[in-house]
Amino acid sequence: MLPVKMCISASAASRIIFQCLRFYCQKPPKKLRICEAVSSSDMGTNVKVQGWVRSVRHQKQNLFLHVNDGSSLQSLQVVASSQLNHRLLTFGSAVEVSGLLVKSPSRRQEVELQANQIHVVGECNPVDFPFKVKERHDLEYIRQFPHLRCRTNTFSSLLRIRSEATTAIQLYFRDKGYVQVHTPVITSNDCEGAGELFQVEPFFSVPAYLVVSGQLHLEVIAGAFPGVFSFGPTFRAENSQSRRHLAEFFMVEAEISFTQSLEDLMKVMEEMFRSTTEHLLAQCPEDVALFHKHVTPGHNWGCDLQTEHEKYLVKHCGNIPLFVTDYPYTLKPFYARDNLDKPLHTVAAVDLLVPGVGELCGGTLREERLDLLKTRLALAGLDETYRWYLDLRRFGSVPHGGFGMGFERYLQCVLGVDNIRDVIPFPRYSHSCLL
Ligand code: 4AD
Ligand code: MG
Repeated sequence: MLPVKMCISASAASRIIFQCLRFYCQKPPKKLRICEAVSSSDMGTNVKVQGWVRSVRHQKQNLFLHVNDGSSLQSLQVVASSQLNHRLLTFGSAVEVSGLLVKSPSRRQEVELQANQIHVVGECNPVDFPFKVKERHDLEYIRQFPHLRCRTNTFSSLLRIRSEATTAIQLYFRDKGYVQVHTPVITSNDCEGAGELFQVEPFFSVPAYLVVSGQLHLEVIAGAFPGVFSFGPTFRAENSQSRRHLAEFFMVEAEISFTQSLEDLMKVMEEMFRSTTEHLLAQCPEDVALFHKHVTPGHNWGCDLQTEHEKYLVKHCGNIPLFVTDYPYTLKPFYARDNLDKPLHTVAAVDLLVPGVGELCGGTLREERLDLLKTRLALAGLDETYRWYLDLRRFGSVPHGGFGMGFERYLQCVLGVDNIRDVIPFPRYSHSCLL
C-alpha cells in the first residue's frame, strides 16, 4: 500500500478540530410535547416536537405552521424559512420539527418555534382528508369518521376530558378509602332482570352473557369491605336509537356496607359528581370551555316517555340536579329493599336526574333480609339461579346499598353534549358497530 501524504495548513486543521468539537458538544434537541413547548420559559433552547399539522400558511420569506400532538388544545406555532417548504407539508400531515424555542412577537401566543429542520413523517392528501383547514365541523359530521375524528380540536378535547374524569373518579374513591374491584365482563347472572342481555357463544357449561351491571359481584366483595367500586364497560342489548343509550357504555358503580339510609348513597353520588367536576375545571378548563362555547345542546330528549317525565321534573325544580326516591316495588329489580309500606308498597331506590340528560345515577338499598329476598326470588322463579345470592344473606350479612352512574351520561351532562355517541371514542348501538 502506498503511503498517502497529507498536506494541511495549521489554520485549516484548527478549524476542522473546532467544528468537530462543536458538533460533539452540541446537545441533541430536547424532545418536548406540545403542551410543554407552548408553556415553556426556556427561550433559546434547541427542541424537537412531533405532531400533526393543523394549519399551513406561506408567505414570501416565511412559512407558518401550527402543530398539535393532542397534549393540549393549543397548537405550537412554527416559523420557518420558506426554503424549508415541502410539497408534502399539508394540513393533516404528520411532522417532526427541530429548532429554537423563542418568544413570539405576536400577542396570540407566548412562544414559537424557529424551525431549522422539518421532516414530514406521514403525508396527508388534503383533498381526500375529510376535515378542511378553515372549516368548523360539527359533532354530527365528525361522527362519520370514527377513525379520524380524534384529529379535530373538539374530539381531542373530549378525549382529554374523558381521561381526566376517569382519573378524578378513581381519586375520589381512593381518597374515601374504597377498594377498586375488577368485576367480570362475562357473567352467568342477569343483574337487572330486564332481559337486555347479549348472550355469549356456548362455551361455559351454563348460559353466559356480557355484563349489564357489576353490582352483584360488588355485593359479594362488599361482604368483606366497607366500600368498594368498579369502573368498566357494561353492555345492554337495548334496541334504542336514543341520544342517551348505548349498547356498550362505561359504568361507575359503588357498593357500601353497613348503611341503612338512602341519604348515605345520595351523599356519595353528590360528592363524586362535585369532586369529579371540580377536578375537570381545574385540570382542563380550556377543553371544558370549548364545549360550553361551541356545543349547543339539542332539543331532542331521547325517545321514550319516561325521559320526558324526567325532563319535566328537572325543569319543574328549576333545572338543577335532583333525587327521586322510593319507587314502586314493581318498577325496580328483585334486589331493591322493600320499604314495607303497603298499600303504597315502595322500595328504597334513588335516581339522580340531571338537566339535559335525565337519569344519571340509579341506586338502591339492597334487600338483606333473607326471608323477604327468598320470597321475591321465588315469585320470580329465580331462587335456584340466585342461591349464592341468598347465601350472602346467611353468612355475616349486613345492610348495604349502592348505585351506578353512566359515565357517558355524566360527560353529556357536564359538557352539554346532546348525543351520547359524541362522548365515547367508539360508540356501539343497535345496527352500528363501526371499527
Ligand atoms: O339504573 P341502572 O340500570 O342501574 C344498575 O345497573 C344498577 N345495578 C347499578 C347499581 O346499583 N350498582 O344503570 C345505572 C346507570 C343509569 O343511571 C344510566 O346513567 C346508565 O347507567 N345507563 C346507561 N348509559 C348509557 N347507555 C345505556 N344503555 C344505559 N343504561 C344505563
Ligand atoms: Mg335506572
